[in-house]
Amino acid sequence: MTKKIALITGITGQDGAYLARLLLKKNYIVHGIIRKSSSFNTGRINDIYQEPFIKKKSLFLHYGDLTSFASINSVISEIKPHEVYNLAAQSHVMVSFKNPEYTSDVNALGTLRILESIRQNKLEKKTKFYQASTSELFGNPKFKSQSEKTPFYTRSPYGTSKLFSYWITKNYRESYGIFAANGILFNHESPLRGETFVTKKISKGLSNIYLKKQKILYIGNLDSMRDWGHAKDYVYAQWLILQQKKPLDLVISTGRKYSVRDFIERCCKYLGWRIFWNGKGVNEYGYLILKNKKIKIIQVSAKYFRPNELNSLKGDSSLAKRKLKFKLKYNIDKLIEEMMSYDLKNKKS
Ligand code: NAP
Ligand code: GDD
Repeated sequence: MTKKIALITGITGQDGAYLARLLLKKNYIVHGIIRKSSSFNTGRINDIYQEPFIKKKSLFLHYGDLTSFASINSVISEIKPHEVYNLAAQSHVMVSFKNPEYTSDVNALGTLRILESIRQNKLEKKTKFYQASTSELFGNPKFKSQSEKTPFYTRSPYGTSKLFSYWITKNYRESYGIFAANGILFNHESPLRGETFVTKKISKGLSNIYLKKQKILYIGNLDSMRDWGHAKDYVYAQWLILQQKKPLDLVISTGRKYSVRDFIERCCKYLGWRIFWNGKGVNEYGYLILKNKKIKIIQVSAKYFRPNELNSLKGDSSLAKRKLKFKLKYNIDKLIEEMMSYDLKNKKS
C-alpha cells in the first residue's frame, strides 16, 4: 500500500512537533516547512529528525515561509500531498498588536497562498486541507460557552487575521470542492508550549523559583479565563478532522475554564506551596510563607496587559465529540503535572 503524504506548515512549533510524531507513527511520509533562522529552531523535533541520506526516510524538511508563494508552491507542486496541515502562524496575540501587518501577511495571506497552490496545481480532488482556526475568533461572547454556532467578533490583529483564514478556507471548499476544514481550537498547552504563553511562563517561572534560579515571576491579567487542553489530545483531533467523509468546521475544547490565578495556584499546589494574594490590579502580588517569612514570588505588571482583552473563553465541543468520536485523555491537573515535571527536570533551561 502506498503511504500517505502529509505536509505540515509550522512543524517546528508546539502542535507541529506533536502532529509530526503522530503521523510518523501512523506510517505517513511527513514533509515540514521550516524557516531559515540564524539559531536552531528545530529543538522540538530533534528526536524525530532523520539525516538526509538515510534509507527509507519518512521525514523531510524544506526551507520556506508563508509570506512567499514561490516557496510554498515549490514544495506542494513537488510532493503533491494527500493532506496539508496549516499550523504555521505568528501565533502570539500580544505580539500581533505590535506587528499587525506581518501577522496578517503570515496568518491570513499565508493560508490563501497554500490554498491557491493546491488549486493551481490541480490538486483539488487529491489534497485535504486543515486550517488552524482559533477560539480567538469569538472575542468576548455573550454566551456562556462557544460552539460552531456562536457569532465571531475578533478583538486583535491576530484574531482578525485568523478570521480571514477561516473564511477563505470555507470559500475554497465551496468554490472549488477542496476538502478544506477549520479546527476551531481553544487554548492548548504542553511541555513544548512556547515560553511567552501564560501557562508555560507560569510552569517554568515557578519551577525556576523552586530551584532558586529566579526570584519573581512578573505576570499580566490574573483574572482572565481560558479553556486549557493538552496539545497531544488536540493534534489527534486535527488528524481526525481530515479523516472524515465530509469537511466540517469543528470546535475542539475541554468545556472547562480556569483563571490565570487558578493556574498559578494549581502549579503551586504541585510544588507543595500555598500562595496568598495581596493588593489589587497592577499592585497585586502573590507570596508564600516559608519559615515564618513572607516571600513575594508573583508581581502583576502592566507590561503584560493587552490593549484589548478576551476575558473568558469556554468551548462547547459536543458536535466534534459526536462526529469524531473523540475523547480527551488529559484534564487540567494532568496537564499541569506534565508541564511542571518537565520544567523541574530541565534545570538548565
Ligand atoms: P507555535 O508554537 O507558535 O508555532 C508556530 C509555528 O509557525 C512555528 O513552527 C513557527 O516557526 C511557524 N511560523 C511562524 N511564522 C512563519 C512563517 N512566516 N512562515 C513559516 N512558518 C512560520 O504555535 P502552536 O501553538 O503550535 O499553534 C499552531 C497553530 O494553531 C497556529 O496557527 C496557532 O495560531 C493555532 N492555534 C493555536 C492554539 C494554541 O492554544 N496553541 C489554539 C488555537 C489555534 P518557528 O519555529 O521558526 O518560529
Ligand atoms: N502571554 C501572557 N503572558 N499572557 C498573560 C500573562 C503573561 O504574562 N498574564 C496574563 N496573561 C493572560 C492573557 O492576557 C490572556 O488573557 C491569557 O493569559 C492567555 O494568554 P496566552 O497564553 O498568551 O494565550 P492567548 O489566549 O492569548 O492565545 C493563545 O490561545 C489562542 C486560542 O484561544 C495562542 O496560542 C493563540 O495562538 C491561540 O489562537
